[in-house]
Amino acid sequence: MTYLEIEGTNNLSGEVSISGAKNAALPLITLSILAKNELEISNIPCVADIKTLFLLLENLGASYSFENNFAKICTKNLKHTKATYDIVRKMRASILVLGPLLSRFGQCEVSLPGGCAIGQRPIDLHLLALEKMGANINIKQGYVMASGKLKGAEIIFDKITVTGSENIIMAAALAKGKTRLLNVAKEPEVVQICEVLANAGLDIKGIGSDELEIHGTNGELLEIKPFKVIPDRIEAGTYLCAGGITNSKITVTNTNPTHLSAVLAKFETMGFGIETKENKISILPAKEIKPVEILTSEYPGFPTDMQAQFMALALRANGTSIIDERLFENRFMHVSELLRMGADIKLNGHIATINGGKELNAADVMATDLRASSALILAALAAKGVSKVHRIYHLDRGYENLEEKFKNLGAKITRLKERA
Ligand code: UD1
Repeated sequence: MTYLEIEGTNNLSGEVSISGAKNAALPLITLSILAKNELEISNIPCVADIKTLFLLLENLGASYSFENNFAKICTKNLKHTKATYDIVRKMRASILVLGPLLSRFGQCEVSLPGGCAIGQRPIDLHLLALEKMGANINIKQGYVMASGKLKGAEIIFDKITVTGSENIIMAAALAKGKTRLLNVAKEPEVVQICEVLANAGLDIKGIGSDELEIHGTNGELLEIKPFKVIPDRIEAGTYLCAGGITNSKITVTNTNPTHLSAVLAKFETMGFGIETKENKISILPAKEIKPVEILTSEYPGFPTDMQAQFMALALRANGTSIIDERLFENRFMHVSELLRMGADIKLNGHIATINGGKELNAADVMATDLRASSALILAALAAKGVSKVHRIYHLDRGYENLEEKFKNLGAKITRLKERA
């Protein structure tokens, strides 16, 4: 086990190149189950969650190579259809094999992911949609046992679900007949899956909207062309927050400013300058950091995956900020750790009130989930003294070369081994 030692600073500067989006790469890799050819994907971030997914596919009988952010995946010899608990428990997104496996093989078993630090996170909407498409679903000994030949159907998601939408889009791709999906997630990661499928010749209408019409191939596998994973908007937002919290100019490159519109608007509300060029965003220091009100919601709203980082940033604001977390019931685990650094935050259900402007002091803090970990790093950058952030395996799930990227910006950050 390792931890990060971070010295507070007032100044960062420079450019940071953004990696491919983990949350896009995960479903895009599972698309390989629908491909008749060897799939070639570039710009895949080398992070723990991606390695977990490759391991899962390998266990199913797939072969792959993954080097320099480039992967070749072949599922021609896939012979198993059981995603076992020992892998699924490491990463909830393993559920993304459910739709593709069922639509290709007519049966599969996928371990139920269970809850996680940020909330219950049920998969009922994935299962209901598959049932509407003709699947028989049983839950036995912690596994989703799914079988049946999938047929097109009309599905209205009761709630917008990102991986739910992705799973059902992939299921519909090989189903028999037309599937209409309403209230589909519009996150850029979902849009990229649709684009890759359309490029493979799949008849799919409404890409980018909340209503999709997909004409399935009736079991015929797809010839999927090589593609590049979109940039990670959450990673970009996190480094921009590092600029904000140290009130320094930082530029993120290889990014897509459009994907970050809601986040950039909040930086501007807080008084920071924002400059965008085609694939670059710079944050410029604020004369005075102002408080902010944030309500997390589905894309194109403010992403829940940026909530923790903005809470850290709000600690520097001159006044009271409000954050209303609408997507996950327990996504405030970072609060108690921030309090250990001297933060003044009050929680009332899903609403956090952050009284900014208090001095932050270095402390030992514990990461609880992926984005909470990055909020603690941000707070440590702004705190007086040397902080230690423990349990950083959460960070390694989703941030590529984190220390190196922060060091290049001038941060004093070191990874050390925990004493046994
Ligand atoms: C994805 C992202 C995660 C992000 C989240 C919301 C990946 C791998 N993960 O997670 O980083 O925080 O979107 O943007 O892409 N829900 C149900 N029933 C379901 C499915 C979801 O009630 O069957 C609820 C959830 O509990 C939550 C809300 O719907 O309250 C949104 O969850 P969802 O969009 O499904 O999140 P994930 O896809 O798991």
